[in-house]
Amino acid sequence: MLRVLSGDDVWPPPVWLMRQAGRYLPEYRALRERAGDFLTLCTTPDLAAEATLQPVRRFGFDAAILFSDIPLLPWALGRTLAYQEGKGPIFRPLRERREVEALDQSRLSEAMVPVLETIRLVRAALPAGVALIGFGGAPFTLACYLVDGGSGEFLATRRMARENPALLSALIDRLAEATIPWLAAQAEAGAEALMLFDSWAGLLPPKLFRSFVIAPTARIVAAMKRRLPEIPVIGFPRLAGLMIMAYAAIPGLDAVGLDTVADPGIAASLVPARVALQGNLDPLALLAGGAGLAEEVRGIALALRGRPHIFNLGHGVLPETPLSHVADLVGLLHGL
Ligand code: CP3
Repeated sequence: MLRVLSGDDVWPPPVWLMRQAGRYLPEYRALRERAGDFLTLCTTPDLAAEATLQPVRRFGFDAAILFSDIPLLPWALGRTLAYQEGKGPIFRPLRERREVEALDQSRLSEAMVPVLETIRLVRAALPAGVALIGFGGAPFTLACYLVDGGSGEFLATRRMARENPALLSALIDRLAEATIPWLAAQAEAGAEALMLFDSWAGLLPPKLFRSFVIAPTARIVAAMKRRLPEIPVIGFPRLAGLMIMAYAAIPGLDAVGLDTVADPGIAASLVPARVALQGNLDPLALLAGGAGLAEEVRGIALALRGRPHIFNLGHGVLPETPLSHVADLVGLLHGL
């Protein structure tokens, strides 16, 4: 995977899956029960390291992704975070400038202690040749959860982008500023690649996309390249559509994750070949399995053959996914 990120095309493509650790794995469900709640699992290094390693052990993926979650950064900056079963992260909605100003970066290094210890444990246990990916939520997606308070249509965040752009900018600037040490510390502890998840980027029209997705991402990537030029950065602007062209032009960005709706052949023609592509099997194709899975896997791999490509899903593994289909996917790629 690191060779692909440095610009080589590797055949068959290396593979890992977004949400490869999680509820579709019986060993994850057992670990989660042992931890009690999700935040405890994320912040207890031996448990989080075990969750990171489980899918690699079972399926032989080419990369492991740190077991953690994107809301842990705003939580580390002082926002109260809760998880509701099946609904994901819940914050008290952030609507005031003084709440932005109260985000406290001085708390970061202490909050990161268990995350960095997890990375060290995973790195020591991973077989050679399996890369470890660190990550963060991109500022706009974090702002969506903070402003709205939880999953949904993110109307409060989108209204703020129109009605009070200065406030949203101030929030996004704070988040971008904090994301730099958040990612840099992960790489310094042993993460060999970094990924920025912008799951809700596609909610914004072009002008707002430039302000709230591209500008803060470019700032983070530039800072990372100054501090740690050898560490590749993957961006995932989900549902960005044609804005993927502007996104992929962010200086220093090494790879772009394609979502499920992106046609891989067309995406390849829109993104310069020096930027690796990652993706983009439909998680439902993996869930359904069979001949449809085989056909889609081949189609994506062949469409991106001859350019740097990391095979992945277009979004995360669904909890209902049969284990045998994941094993089939890896087997299909190895058999290409
Ligand atoms: O295996 C991995 O991918 C590593 C860890 C990881 C998690 N979340 C674990 C998790 C990563 C990289 C994420 C990213 C993440 N988290 C994103 C970006 C990617 C995407 O899916 O769009 C987002 C938007 C979040 C926020 C989040 N966390 C939501 C919306 C939810 C609820 C949905 C769900 O599946 O329950 C979570 C919870 C969460 N994050 C779980 C896991 C394994 C489920 C927790 C559980 O009940 O055990």
